[in-house]
Amino acid sequence: MNSKTQAPDTVICNGKQFKILLHQDELQRRIAEMGAEISKNYKDKKPIFIGVLNGAFIFMADLLRYVDIPCEVDFYKLSSYGDEKVSSGMVTERKDIDADIAGRHIILVEDIVDTGLSANYIINIVEKKKPASVALVSLLHKPDAIKYHVDVDYVGFNIETLFVLGYGLDYAQEGRNLPHIYVIDEN
Ligand code: IMP
Repeated sequence: MNSKTQAPDTVICNGKQFKILLHQDELQRRIAEMGAEISKNYKDKKPIFIGVLNGAFIFMADLLRYVDIPCEVDFYKLSSYGDEKVSSGMVTERKDIDADIAGRHIILVEDIVDTGLSANYIINIVEKKKPASVALVSLLHKPDAIKYHVDVDYVGFNIETLFVLGYGLDYAQEGRNLPHIYVIDEN
C-alpha cells in the first residue's frame, strides 16, 4: 500500500501561489537522519522533547517516529506571526508545558527558525526551570533572517529568506496539512 499523500506541484493559499521547495520524500530522508543522530547523542538520557505549537506538530510527530530511545513529550504553544507573512516581532505564550523539567535533558522542537525571536524566548523560559541541558532542533532555518541569537543544534535544511508553507507551516492559518514544503512563487 502506498501511504504517501499526493499533492500538486503548485498550490494557491489565501490568493498567493506557492511551488514545491522540499518534497515529502526529501523531508522524510533528512528527518530519519536527524532522529538517528539524536537517538545516538541522547542514549541513556531519557530526553523530553518539547514541541513548539502550532507549526512543529507534523515535524515533531515524524521526528519522534525516528527516535528509538526512551523519551517523553510535551508542548509549548506560542504565537508570533499573527496572520501575516512577516513576523509581528512579539511573542505571546498560549500554553505552558506540564512536565517538571528540572534536571532533565530538553530538546526543543521548532518548525522553523526565522528571526530567532520565538526560539530565543522559549530557551530563556526553559533555562529558568533549571534543566540539565537544552538543545534546539529545527526542521528549517533561515540563517540570513536571524535577528535574535540562537544556536540551532540540529537543522534539517537551511533555506533562503523566503516565505514557506506546508508540513505544519501556515499562511494565515491555512496550508499546514500540505505534505511537501512550498515556497512563495513571486513570478
Ligand atoms: P521567528 O520567531 O521569527 O524565528 O519565527 C518563528 C515562527 O514564525 C515559526 O515557528 C513559524 O511558526 C513562523 N514562521 C517563520 N517563518 C515562516 C515561514 O516562512 N512560513 C510560515 N511560518 C513561518
